[in-house]
Amino acid sequence: MRVLVTGGAGFIGSHIAEFYAKNGDDVTVFDNLSRDNLLGKGYGNINYNWNYLGGFERIKRIKGDVTNFEETKNVAKDNDVIIHVAAQTAVTASLTAPQTDFATNALGTFNVLEAARISETNPAIVYTSTNKVYGDNINRAKVVEGANRYAFDETFKSGVSEDFSIDRCEHTPYGCSKLAGDLYAQDYSKTYGLKTGVFRMSCIYGTRQFGVEDQGWVAWFTIATLTEKPITLYGDGKQVRDILYVEDLVRAFDSFIQRNTALSGEVFNIGGGAENTISLLELIALLEQLTGKRSPISYRDWRPSDQKVYVSNISKARQALEWTPKVNPMEGVKKLVNWVSKNKSLFN
Ligand SMILES: NC(=O)c1ccc[n+]([C@@H]2O[C@H](COP(=O)([O-])OP(=O)(O)OC[C@H]3O[C@@H](n4cnc5c(N)ncnc54)[C@H](O)[C@@H]3O)[C@@H](O)[C@H]2O)c1
Repeated sequence: MRVLVTGGAGFIGSHIAEFYAKNGDDVTVFDNLSRDNLLGKGYGNINYNWNYLGGFERIKRIKGDVTNFEETKNVAKDNDVIIHVAAQTAVTASLTAPQTDFATNALGTFNVLEAARISETNPAIVYTSTNKVYGDNINRAKVVEGANRYAFDETFKSGVSEDFSIDRCEHTPYGCSKLAGDLYAQDYSKTYGLKTGVFRMSCIYGTRQFGVEDQGWVAWFTIATLTEKPITLYGDGKQVRDILYVEDLVRAFDSFIQRNTALSGEVFNIGGGAENTISLLELIALLEQLTGKRSPISYRDWRPSDQKVYVSNISKARQALEWTPKVNPMEGVKKLVNWVSKNKSLFN
């Protein structure tokens, strides 16, 4: 199988590329290595995943930009599968640079879909959407407050499912640009018969994740704890997310790809689900348990459209993809702690 991974030098993309290369497939990674520029900060190791993937014979690396249609069309033309991961990924950066966010996420996704439409191979396409498409509507769901966490009340105790409203609320520019791609991916299936699958992802975490304060919070808290940097909590730290280890996510994508004709145009909420939730305060406590360290914590105001609780209802993915998360937060965070511990010099 020929697999194209846009944004393949990023955290999730690098795991997808590795998975298919190890599976014996021919993988092309297409990335403009812009993560640090887009976020306005990073660790100066933008080439780390790129270089890591260079060690795989079956991975071809191409530097290029999904906002450039000609480049995207050329790289997309001969593939059986396209996994579109390239994006501007931070809500905060979308608020200060909405035009770049729109170009990267909305136009970039449109270009990938359009390139797939005119390709002669009729590829299966995975689009990596986000829980942020539900925007502030999530905050209308009732929550109950515990000592260290919020939780949905009974109504949403199994989490948020795919039919939850996306309308009539604030989303932030990131939520809008990702939703534009989400709707286009669905529509290109309905209108042109493209074999697209939309995955509205909650928090994904794992090794090779260069988390910063604005994006990738599980990795950021781990890095901060191990490198003894302070952590700022926006809000009260009781926010809860269902977290999913990256290798579990990749298995879900692969399951869709195996069934792409039957599931074309479908949307899946995907995360750790109700059994794999953690609050910010609980993660800090878990990291202290695992490392014996605790970063100094300070508190600031809530950030725009932050969701007090987001938990994916993963019933549809479980059933249609015959998939279930295998790595729980304790195991997954341990793997991340081990990786950061071995690579501390990357985070100075
Ligand atoms: N990590 C999460 O928890 C999470 C949650 C929900 C959705 N997502 C989505 O998953 C995808 C991947 O996220 P990630 O955490 O791996 O982020 P990442 O920043 O590590 O990876 C994104 C990659 O895209 C590349 N890129 C950016 N603009 C590009 C462009 N114009 N052309 C080509 N490449 C470009 C970047 O250089 C980077 O390598 C994104 O679409 C994001 O919106 C992630």
